[in-house]
Amino acid sequence: MLLRRCQHLFVELDQEPRFVFGTLLTGGDGLDRTPRWLAYAAHLDEPVPVDLDQLALLQAVSRDDWAEAGALHQAHGEAAVQALLAQGLLVSDADAHAGWRDRDQATRDIAWWTPALMAQAHGGWRDLDIQARGEQGLMLSSQQMVDAFGAAPEPDYRRAPEATPLALPVAEASDFDALLQRRRTCRNFDANATLAQDDFSTMLRRVWGALGTRTLAPGAVAVKKTSPAGGGLHAVEAYVLVRRVEGLAPGLYHYLSMRHALEPLQALSPQDAAALAHRFVAGQDWFEDVPVMVVMTARFDRLFWKYRRHAKAWRVVHLDVGHLSQTMYLSATERGLGCFVTAAINDRAVDEALRLRPLREAAIALVGFGPRAAEMRTMELDQFDPVELDREA
Ligand SMILES: Cc1cc2nc3c(=O)[nH]c(=O)nc-3n(C[C@H](O)[C@H](O)[C@H](O)COP(=O)(O)O)c2cc1C
Repeated sequence: MLLRRCQHLFVELDQEPRFVFGTLLTGGDGLDRTPRWLAYAAHLDEPVPVDLDQLALLQAVSRDDWAEAGALHQAHGEAAVQALLAQGLLVSDADAHAGWRDRDQATRDIAWWTPALMAQAHGGWRDLDIQARGEQGLMLSSQQMVDAFGAAPEPDYRRAPEATPLALPVAEASDFDALLQRRRTCRNFDANATLAQDDFSTMLRRVWGALGTRTLAPGAVAVKKTSPAGGGLHAVEAYVLVRRVEGLAPGLYHYLSMRHALEPLQALSPQDAAALAHRFVAGQDWFEDVPVMVVMTARFDRLFWKYRRHAKAWRVVHLDVGHLSQTMYLSATERGLGCFVTAAINDRAVDEALRLRPLREAAIALVGFGPRAAEMRTMELDQFDPVELDREA
């Protein structure tokens, strides 16, 4: 068996109190506050505790060249080497470790910026259920937050309170202003309504469809859409979870932005589609009646092809998703549809359902759109106190 160190490794000196039952028996409060080293490997989902001897061993093993396990056993002791292998911090060529090895390979093939890779690898959720947490009383209301943390930093943020603000003219409102005014996040969808094919198709084409391309060099094609995208790359893909769309069977689809067509990925029963919708939005039950959800994923291979080890690239692809989301909001508003965006998603569950290649492509955010319910059960910002312009302050 051949071994080498994983490609990207961060170490944190962690001192978050952690529950340890044993301390209760010795008169403690159940919390262990001793500092410990945590190793974050980019190909693992969770950090693993390590000691200084293990860190020294990791330092001694090559990141790039494979070494015979026997030679490492002789040099460092079999138990110590096998412990790091079991934790995933050493990678092997054995079939049993193919999953970790493939993930580690993705971090070698793509010119990731290491801190972004760490955040991407370790920031995921798989089974968070906000509805269940609410039922357990674990979600704080606004009042409870103010009670616990004090008032939020004020919305009317002044940087030079001693200076008199320079009043700006207010232009006459246009139809576009009216559209912007109507935009809002819908949390009440009609659970029985089917989305018309025309609405569905128009939304996909307007928001995620390519308007055209320009070849900048053979092998380097810029894409034009209705939203801007860093580097003209449009390294964001759209995957559709269809529940009730006219003329389409429930299931998972991939939108082909160049062809304005759908690739069927997996057919689903209505019950399975409903369960997946609940899981995708991390149990935010106010969203799950929507007839269609669109998951936006980042293609890191395309992104880091241009922005190699670039400190801003990961930020750029999140901004791209935000722009697409706003175009989606405006388009849905114009068509009289309710819509939402959420980043509170079980992204690991989404990635697995879509069979995305780990660390090469991953879900960033999810949007949904469809007919609104007649009755509003969950709060929306449909009513608010308009800002009265205070010219004197
Ligand atoms: C990046 C982003 C993430 C959001 N995530 C959630 C979410 O997880 N759950 C939710 O109910 N609303 C979510 N929203 C919607 C906001 O709560 C909403 O935009 C805000 O309350 C203002 O309301 P409005 O969109 O009607 O103006 C998100 C909005 C944005 C831009």
